[in-house]
Amino acid sequence: MGMKWAALVGGYGSNLEAMLEYGNPIGLVISHKANVRALEVAKRFHVPTVTLLPKAFPMREAFDQALLKILRDEGIEALALAGYLRWLDPAIVREYKGRAINLHPALLPSFPGLNAIEQAFEHGVFWTGVTVHFIDDGHDTGPIIAQAAVPRYREDTLFDLRERIQYHEHHLYPRIVEAVDQGIVVLEGTQVIWKESKSWINGQY
Ligand code: GRF
Repeated sequence: MGMKWAALVGGYGSNLEAMLEYGNPIGLVISHKANVRALEVAKRFHVPTVTLLPKAFPMREAFDQALLKILRDEGIEALALAGYLRWLDPAIVREYKGRAINLHPALLPSFPGLNAIEQAFEHGVFWTGVTVHFIDDGHDTGPIIAQAAVPRYREDTLFDLRERIQYHEHHLYPRIVEAVDQGIVVLEGTQVIWKESKSWINGQY
């Protein structure tokens, strides 16, 4: 297929880096925060960036309209969220249905929302992981594309667990972007359909 992707970011940008190193066709990086490392990563890979600060807009609707206009003007066909800590407007979700994905550092539907790694750690789970899902109108509720389970060992610090989760994020997400890009995995209604089997959809790379 070969779509033009935008990565929506807002922080450190390690997943953006993983996608760009892997060779995902990211044609634009949009950040909702200024001066974040993700923007430096984009520049290092010569990917154009847009910084869209919520506080520059009088209300949420205006921010979302500006975002949708940029996506359309730039001919963006698919969205990969990575550390973008805002909910997407329903109009954007509708326009990019089946072509917008998110990465979450827990095994959804457990521990949705912010600080998922901390939530799972503090809850004392033996297993947590990484989820990649299509975006729908809910918060971390969309149809699941792939998951990698990650053990939490007794002696783990939060740092140890975070590192183990990030390893899977960085390996899984670029492969899913590629699979969506090539139509190997598609969304039909609310069903995720894999057209080819891939060993890594549950974390075996
Ligand atoms: C990742 O843990 C991702 O799962 C979550 O936000 C974090 C982004 O990290 N949605 P980075 O900015 O890609 O390093």
